Amino acid sequence: METEILYLTGSPDDEEKLLRAGEIVKKGGLAAFPTETVYGLGGNAFDPEASRKIYAAKGRPSDNPLIVHIARLEDLPRVARTIPEEAKRLARAFWPGPLTMIFEKQEEVPKETTGGLNTVAVRFPSDPYAQRFIRYAGGFVAAPSANLSGRPSTTKGSHVIRDMDGRIDVILSGDDCEIGLESTIVDLTVAPPAILRPGFYGEEAISSVLHRTVLSRKGVLSDKEAPKAPGMKYRHYAPKAELQIFEGTEENIVNSINEAVLKCEAAGRRAAVLCADETKDRYRCGTVFSLGSRKDEKTIARRLFAVLRKTDDCGIDVIFSEPFDTPLLGTAIMNRLEKAAGGKINQTQEKKK
Ligand code: TXA
Ligand code: MG
Repeated sequence: METEILYLTGSPDDEEKLLRAGEIVKKGGLAAFPTETVYGLGGNAFDPEASRKIYAAKGRPSDNPLIVHIARLEDLPRVARTIPEEAKRLARAFWPGPLTMIFEKQEEVPKETTGGLNTVAVRFPSDPYAQRFIRYAGGFVAAPSANLSGRPSTTKGSHVIRDMDGRIDVILSGDDCEIGLESTIVDLTVAPPAILRPGFYGEEAISSVLHRTVLSRKGVLSDKEAPKAPGMKYRHYAPKAELQIFEGTEENIVNSINEAVLKCEAAGRRAAVLCADETKDRYRCGTVFSLGSRKDEKTIARRLFAVLRKTDDCGIDVIFSEPFDTPLLGTAIMNRLEKAAGGKINQTQEKKK
């Protein structure tokens, strides 16, 4: 399939490009588009065939449900059968923005879009390009992240082109995504509501709006259960390289990573270090990638997926990573990193003298 690539440049021509991508989706095609979190791979949410095509383009198992994107709050009742008071409160606080909520679904939303579930995930993104595209596409765009299944999400137009060229009808390539991590997912069909995926808004932000404690749902699901959040069942966000996270004191982490890199390179494997600006000069070998200063956690979050993809471009075999449990976004960052690592965490210890 020939993929049309349309660059959004901030000029008046953008409108025509958004309109064109919207028309393609209305007719049953697929379009990738930028949002404030990550790029999305969109099709008409009411068209089962479009959802099937999304799964095929991503190479994604079809029991992993899609998020329906809307661009006007008044459109929510078309897809959500009941809208609890708490959802209204969260919508007032965080929509449009990086929050997805799970509702009981309306009959009209096909099971192909919800991965066979009776519930539907809905998000109202804040990115102005995303909003205009969704409106032109008819108002209801089913979209997972625009990456091949299992790979790190796409936060740059060039990532989308790399993963999706030849697999979908059109790519809207715009700016780098501002947040760089996927939306927070809150399930409002259970009491109390549960966070299925941490994101820009964490437990504290959600709990403070709802005036009650909302906890993250953790754990791995058995094969018989439908996955309720990414990474519960399938490997996610993973670079080609093996990824290992080191935990402990800063001193022990730096020493252990230096040692691990040496061993790895001695065995003829290419090693990379994932670290912060504060420690980057203390690594003596391997390719060192800093995500930014620990004082600027937004930058760390924004760059995470791009740096994981860069390690692939550099032919890295093993990545040794510092932990990034920063105050506000640390839970979301570590959630992605731990899933990319497939749970490989090394507790470092003081060296015996
Ligand atoms: O920021 C985002 O959320 C991005 C942008 C494009 O909006 N989208 C995104 O989609 O991350 P995706 O498909 O990569 O992750 C959505 C996850 C699914 O993996 C699934 O686990 C969960 O949302 N989900 C969707 N519908 C659900 C439902 N009805 N019940 C429980 N979880 C659901
Ligand atoms: Mg995804």
